[in-house]
This record gives sequence, structure tokens and C-alpha cells, in this order.
Amino acid sequence: MEDIPQSLKQRLHRYGQEHVLAGWDSLSDSERRALLAQLEAIDFDLLHQLFTQQGQTFHLPDPERITPLPRVTLDPSDLHLRRRGEEALRRGEVAVLIVAGGQGSRLGFVLPKGMFPIGPVSQKTLFQVHAEKVLALRRRYGAAIPLLIMTSPATDDTTRAFFADQRFFGLPPSDVFFFCQGTMPALDIATGRLLLEKPGRIFTSPDGHGGTLAALRASGLLHRLRDDGIRHVFYFQVDNPLVRVADPLFLGHHLAQRAEVSSKVVAKNGPTDTLGNFLLVDGRCTIIEYSDLPETLARQTDAQGRLRLWAGNPAIHIFDLDFLERMSQEAANLPFHVARKKVPCLDASGQWMEPTTENALKFERFIFDVLPRAERWTAVETTRATEFVPLKRETGPESPPAVQQALSNLFGGWLKEAGVAVPRRPDGDVAVPVEISPLFALDADELRAKLPRWLTVEGALYLE
Ligand code: UTP
Repeated sequence: MEDIPQSLKQRLHRYGQEHVLAGWDSLSDSERRALLAQLEAIDFDLLHQLFTQQGQTFHLPDPERITPLPRVTLDPSDLHLRRRGEEALRRGEVAVLIVAGGQGSRLGFVLPKGMFPIGPVSQKTLFQVHAEKVLALRRRYGAAIPLLIMTSPATDDTTRAFFADQRFFGLPPSDVFFFCQGTMPALDIATGRLLLEKPGRIFTSPDGHGGTLAALRASGLLHRLRDDGIRHVFYFQVDNPLVRVADPLFLGHHLAQRAEVSSKVVAKNGPTDTLGNFLLVDGRCTIIEYSDLPETLARQTDAQGRLRLWAGNPAIHIFDLDFLERMSQEAANLPFHVARKKVPCLDASGQWMEPTTENALKFERFIFDVLPRAERWTAVETTRATEFVPLKRETGPESPPAVQQALSNLFGGWLKEAGVAVPRRPDGDVAVPVEISPLFALDADELRAKLPRWLTVEGALYLE
């Protein structure tokens, strides 16, 4: 029979967390082992600090230190930059990293979000869309492009099984790497006590996309990538099917600037836009969450009446491998951000309860907190319509129908550039579902070169 180590008992007592042992006597041996392993992994001191700060983990820099991000756009006809990026792809120096460890709670989809069927006509999943882009790039540039997928304990098994079941969407299985991020316990808002999801099981959730650094390090993948000649990692979030994976022009710019990190940014829709604010603090590239930026700053306008702090974060970055390695050594120094959430759990009397108001503090690290540590960085402006419409919620502008419409609009735009008229509604939206497989064309130029002369679009269109 497993016993509770004395040192652990003392630690639980010191931090007021002895309630987690309630029901110990009725736990099976394996449940006891699992609970002890969970408890051993918890940094009680850190949790105690996070609780006593009660969400005050962010300190706004003095507003004089905050300046707007310079506006930089890339010229799509700049062949010099594009070729530079393409050469890096051809030399096999680029890997692609998708963060897919989130719980997707707002979407209310039971499977990992990457398995959501998003293709406006084909209904192919987010994972398939991304994997086919990587496959198309491999074919175009004749080079290996490793695909790294960060999962979490909540999504790991299902994601791996899905890729295996789908034969890795045509990618060589040896070039697809899954690595699982860590978790953090949540705390009761009022008492700071750990929450139990059942007797002997502490409630935890993924530790945020900032967990990428520690998870990459623990997986050993950074060494593997280096040995394979990778120098740049293209990073994005699983829920954005519009992303231009490993965009060669962006990559060329990253190389030309000798940047350690390059990011895409989009103009905010207005002062209350919920994207993270991309700005400079003491001249360093920084992201401040929308909820942390005081309204007076968010509403400031420039001489032309435009938002002064205009840039929002679509979470599309290129990280140099050297930089990722350096940051992964300091992963434990990234701050935690605190969110107040409703977490169903056992109440003080051991009964299951579904809270109607926020009852828990959840702690996450964010990848963008590494940006100010880059010595050389660059950020280029793009548009949401062409590169960023994430799937977040059941309804509204980030819902499945809205994201599918955005995809149809994007592909409709490519068709228009190729001289093919697509029916549109009075508001400008494409009126029929339109989809172009990444394996048919990755961009408007490729589409133009391949388009059948006879094409007219009247109903749903899928080019495969
Ligand atoms: P979000 O913060 O939008 O979270 O993640 P989410 O899990 O998709 O949705 P909600 O908030 O529960 O509704 C943005 C991206 O970061 C990844 C997600 O998978 C998504 O691609 N992410 C988030 C992780 O990989 N790990 C995390 O711990 C959190």
C-alpha cells in the first residue's frame, strides 16, 4: 500500500492544502500513486505567491515608455526577399510549429480543436488544412519541413491517434513530431486551495502557449532540429486556417533583418479590440493584453485620428532556433498570467458542483512574453482577411460559419486575381462556398498558373 511521505504531509500542512488527501483511505493503489505524483510535481511556493498576488502579476510600464510599433508592410513583388525565403526553405532550414494544446472551451467542441471540420466545402479539419500546406511546401521546395505539434494531456492521445488514422495527411510520419506541454493546477478564488476534480485527483489545465518553451526543451526536439539543420521555426496557432504557413516573403524579410524573432501584426478593429496590443516598451517589441491596457492609452489617436497603439497580435511568428534554445533555458522565468474561470469541481464537503460564477484562478504562460528579450526583431503588417480569422466560439465573428466565410472570401479573392468572377452578396462576401486545397494551390500566383481556362463559378467550388 502506498503511504504518504512525511515531508509531503508537512508541505501540505504548511501551505494549507491538506484537504487534497481527503478520501485517501478509499483510493486504490494506482490512484494513490497518481495523486502522489501530481503533488510531487507541484511548486507550492509558486502557487502561494501567485495566489497572494491575486492577479496583480502584470505591472503596466510607465506610459512614457510605451510607443507605437512602426508600420512596416512587405511588397509582394519584392522578388529578392521572396527568393531569400525560398532558398532557406529549399535548404531545409525551416520547421513549422503548431500550438494545439488548448482546451478550446469557448468553442464547445469535445475533440481537440485541430479536429474541427472547417473546410467550407470539403469539411476537412484544421489539422488537415495545416498538414496539407506543409506537404505542398515540401513538394514545391523539394525539402524536408518538420511539422511540430504541441499537444497537452487533454489533447495528446486523440491528436496522435487522429494523425496516425489519417496517415499523417501524406506527410512522412518521421517528419511529424508531437510534444506534450505541462499543466498548472487552478486555485479556489476565495481560499487559494487546490481544486479536486474527483477524490484523489487535482484539477489542472494546460500551462498556456508559453509552455511551448519548457515542453520543447523537455522533448529534446530542439537538439534534434539543430542536428537536422533547422535554423528557423515558423510558429502559429491551430485555430487559424488562413495562416500562410512559412510565408517565403516573410521569411526573406526575417533573414534580411537578421532578426531573432519576426512577427506578423494586424491593425486593431478599434480601441476595444480583444487582440493583444503589439507595441514598443523602451524600444523593445512587447505585447500587452487588451485587458491590461488602460482605456485612456487604448483610445489615444495620432495626428491623422488613427489609433496610436494600432497593432494587434495574430500569434504568427518566426523564431530563430538559437533564440528558442536560449529562451527555453529561461522558460521558468516567464511570468504567469491569471484568469478567473468557472471550474466544476468537488466542494468542501466532497460534493460535485458546477459554479455559476467564477470560482477559480487559472495560471498560464504566454509565448509572446519572450519577444522583449529578442535583441533583433521585426514586425510586419498584414490583414485579417488574408491571414488571420481564428476559430474561437460557437457564434459571432470567430465562429465556424464566420471562419468558413472568411476562407471562401480569401479563395474568392484569389480566383478574382486569376480573372475568374465569383458571385458576391451586396456586402461583398462571396455568395457560395469556395475552397482551394493547399495541394492544388498555396497562393493566388500558383492558382493563376494552374487554373483551368473554362472555369466559371456558380455554385459551391472545391479545387483539389
Ligand atoms: P486560446 O487562448 O485561444 O485557447 O489559444 P483555446 O484553448 O484555443 O480556447 P479557449 O480559451 O479554451 O476557449 C490560442 C492557441 O494557443 C493554443 C491553443 O491550442 C490555440 O492554438 N494553446 C493555448 C496551447 O497550445 N496551450 C495552452 O495551454 C493554451
